[in-house]
Amino acid sequence: MQGKVAIVTGAAGGFGRVLVCALLEQGASVAALDVSEPGLAQLRASLPGYDDRLLCAVTDIADYRACERAATDTAARFGGVHILINNGALGLNVLREDCMDNLVGIRELTPEIWNRFIAVNLTGAWNMTRVCIEPMLAQRWGRIIDVTTSFFTMLRGSFHPYGPSKAGMEAMAAGHAKEFAGTGVTVNVVVPGGPADTPMVPSSSSFKRENLIPPSAMVAPIVWLCSEAANDVTGNRYVAAQWDPRAPQQEVEQRCRAPIAWPQLAQSPVWPGGKPAE
Ligand SMILES: NC(=O)c1ccc[n+]([C@@H]2O[C@H](COP(=O)([O-])OP(=O)(O)OC[C@H]3O[C@@H](n4cnc5c(N)ncnc54)[C@H](O)[C@@H]3O)[C@@H](O)[C@H]2O)c1
Repeated sequence: MQGKVAIVTGAAGGFGRVLVCALLEQGASVAALDVSEPGLAQLRASLPGYDDRLLCAVTDIADYRACERAATDTAARFGGVHILINNGALGLNVLREDCMDNLVGIRELTPEIWNRFIAVNLTGAWNMTRVCIEPMLAQRWGRIIDVTTSFFTMLRGSFHPYGPSKAGMEAMAAGHAKEFAGTGVTVNVVVPGGPADTPMVPSSSSFKRENLIPPSAMVAPIVWLCSEAANDVTGNRYVAAQWDPRAPQQEVEQRCRAPIAWPQLAQSPVWPGGKPAE
């Protein structure tokens, strides 16, 4: 990834940190964006020796102008934008520590909570895609990786607004993969494949931590998707927990892959004059 420039949102979180570190180790320059200033300060302190290739920028991805500034600053500092990892999100842990064991019902939600989750988890990913897409299309090379969640979580009762916000993001990724097909910009989804050992799953929850998916599981599929080997790979969804980095890449890739957003579940719509092209 020498010469490539990556933007990672939610960079101070559980997955974000390992992804920033992995991309730096692979030779990329990285803009680490997060709304948490102390989180970014900690991240920077944990990565000494990367000052020339690491930009940490406090950015609220729900704020389109802030996203625009972050993309402009990244391009000015490193000379371009090639990779976008839409990873930043709010989990239900921001509402309550025991959210995993005692689920969050609709009466606990307010319009402000609903709107904030949608603004961060769905609109935030769109904002970042919108501000990064022009340079990617112009250079005919780009990688957009959207971190969504398991289908189970999207449809789960008393798991709002998190589940629907991620379902919207998955649908957005499916549409973007089609829209950018043939341009050199690929769009893929990566999910951990279950609850993971990050702050989004509070330490007080009843899961045994050792049974949770380690954040490092996200690294191998995402690094592979960013490589030249994945130039023609778009519209796929990968379950990181199933990706065995020791097995042959082609075999692993085929085993972990499905189309984004379960298109086989879509019922054929009735269109006057015949179904339009996708
Ligand atoms: N942990 C899991 O079990 C799990 C399961 C499925 C999917 N995911 C997804 O993985 C991704 C990473 O989550 P994680 O587990 O590392 O959680 P995390 O809470 O450790 O990290 C999320 C990061 O996003 C940042 N963030 C929140 N609001 C933001 C905003 N407005 N602008 C910029 N940054 C913001 C937070 O400050 C935090 O650093 C998320 O998209 C999440 O939905 C996580």
